[in-house]
Amino acid sequence: GSASRYDFVIVGGGTSGLVVANRLSEMKGYTVAVIEAGDSVFGNANVTDVTGYGRSFGTKIDWAYLTENQTYAGGKQQIMRAGKAIGGTSAINGMSYTRAETVQIDLWEKVGNKGWNWRTLFPYYQKSEGFQVPTSDKIGDGADYYIGYHGERGPLKVGWPKMMTNGSVLPILDETFSELGVPYNRDVNGGNMVGLTSHPNTVDRDANIREDAARAYFWPFENRHNLKIISNTLAKKIVWDNNSDDLAVAIGVEVTGPDGNEVIYASKEVILSAGSLKSSVILELSGIGNPDILDKHNIPVKVNLPTVGENLQDQTNNGLSYAGEEFWIGGPTFSALPSAEQIYGNRVSGIASSIKSSLEDYAKAVSNSSNGAVQEAHLLEAFQLQHDLIFKSRVPYAEIVFLPIGHSFSSEYWPLLPFSRGSIHIQSADSFKPASINPNYFRFEQDLDAQAEMAKFIRKAFGTAPLSQFVGEEFAPGLDRVSENASDSTWRSWVKSNYRSNFHPVGTASMLPRDKGGVVSPELKVYGTKNVRVIDASVLPFQLCGHLTSTLYAVAEMASDLIKKRYIF
Ligand code: FDA
Repeated sequence: GSASRYDFVIVGGGTSGLVVANRLSEMKGYTVAVIEAGDSVFGNANVTDVTGYGRSFGTKIDWAYLTENQTYAGGKQQIMRAGKAIGGTSAINGMSYTRAETVQIDLWEKVGNKGWNWRTLFPYYQKSEGFQVPTSDKIGDGADYYIGYHGERGPLKVGWPKMMTNGSVLPILDETFSELGVPYNRDVNGGNMVGLTSHPNTVDRDANIREDAARAYFWPFENRHNLKIISNTLAKKIVWDNNSDDLAVAIGVEVTGPDGNEVIYASKEVILSAGSLKSSVILELSGIGNPDILDKHNIPVKVNLPTVGENLQDQTNNGLSYAGEEFWIGGPTFSALPSAEQIYGNRVSGIASSIKSSLEDYAKAVSNSSNGAVQEAHLLEAFQLQHDLIFKSRVPYAEIVFLPIGHSFSSEYWPLLPFSRGSIHIQSADSFKPASINPNYFRFEQDLDAQAEMAKFIRKAFGTAPLSQFVGEEFAPGLDRVSENASDSTWRSWVKSNYRSNFHPVGTASMLPRDKGGVVSPELKVYGTKNVRVIDASVLPFQLCGHLTSTLYAVAEMASDLIKKRYIF
């Protein structure tokens, strides 16, 4: 095709990429292109239907990345889902809108990312949000909020679905969980997340459809003359000019689209927003990464940055389900976020000190798996901070989602802060070949123990009044499989043969100081480059207690402002 030139070229028209495209194209004198492998899903019912979670799985809009066999977690491969569409993963996700703990975002600054803390990020959560104040019937069904936490003028519609589950469910859960020491939390979006809550969703309540990044940030703006989406087009690698001041200078992106191969030129910046299972892969294909890995595939080293693709952090999800004594309809939004103390009870301090004494081993093991690319000392610091979050700051240690649907009452849960870390690396210089993804699920004893312990806690909750009066037989795991007084090893083997990825991978291009193993700076600039950034889930240095999109929208908003400051005077 004929050469195309823009000021900014964004790779990936997903959750984060479309925020950046929108905000940068507000600068009238600059042109912005978005390269997206997928297509429009504007009219795709698998996307828009608010009760259609899962319908798009395995269809052409799901990348369905495969992991390596999971050595510590039953040996099998796992599917890591991600959206391949204008809107990215926000078009296929569960729509839960929950942010993070204040202390968790404050850690970003504490480890050296100047300017990134809860206080600076909070206005950007609000900037992105178009909170739909619940009507009185929704409040009757359990919608609850503090208006001061929310933004009402942002592009992203957030609220409770038109059809909420019958209002009797929340009081039942509330009474049950306060019996178990888990308090009620009116609104998890103010930075304190422990408790039972009815959280909002990314949903257009009045239209009764999913709200995704495309509906919020792209479609209403698609006619901006300086904003162009190049869809059905795969970005392969960055094209470089000669170095300037020892820094790598990007001049464009090599792509394969419907018209074949071409280069999309960028006169100012290339921004990777391809998601945490792709942006770091594009960096490696472009010569930025661990020389040992690049050499193996004859890729010339542009920047020696050995931690690219390391620090992959995901969570693991299991479910328990019961027969329901009633028939429930509507979109459930109830979840419980208990702390470690609430789950482990008076055993918590013993657990805390036993984990503490394992942290050095954890750090050693992860560093060894990376062949030393990630330094033990950096991992140890991260693990100690994580330990403090769990046991000193007492942030939530699990999320339990309740799904009273039809004649069943199910739950899904995941430990929020596992210690296991893995990696993603290229296996070929060919951009069409899949990368090797290894999250190392359950690598550490504590991660598996937490997964089993939480299942027991949930069974206990379903056996506690008044919730116990509304459910019957246990379908999963079922008492025949895991008996009332089953051993830890029985629980663990059930966990390992039934878990899945929780689809929250982060960290593969972590924002950290370069001498602490970072890939991007606090301006989200890739170290060693003049004009390449990563803006997506890859840059989160640590896993979060919230679902990811709310924070990704906020990070992308804040990053856009950082970029704009350099171009508008
Ligand atoms: P995102 O995946 O959104 O965007 C990346 C884009 O880049 C995609 O459009 C992709 O097609 C494109 N791309 C990739 N490689 C490319 C290439 N080489 N060339 C061109 N384009 C390329 N979160 C939440 O807040 N609430 C929830 O309920 C859930 N539930 C949930 C369920 C499921 C099934 C999943 C998979 C995930 C969730 N999540 C979630 C997580 C959340 O949706 C997810 O973390 C973010 O949407 C990721 O946003 P990013 O911007 O990082 O990437």
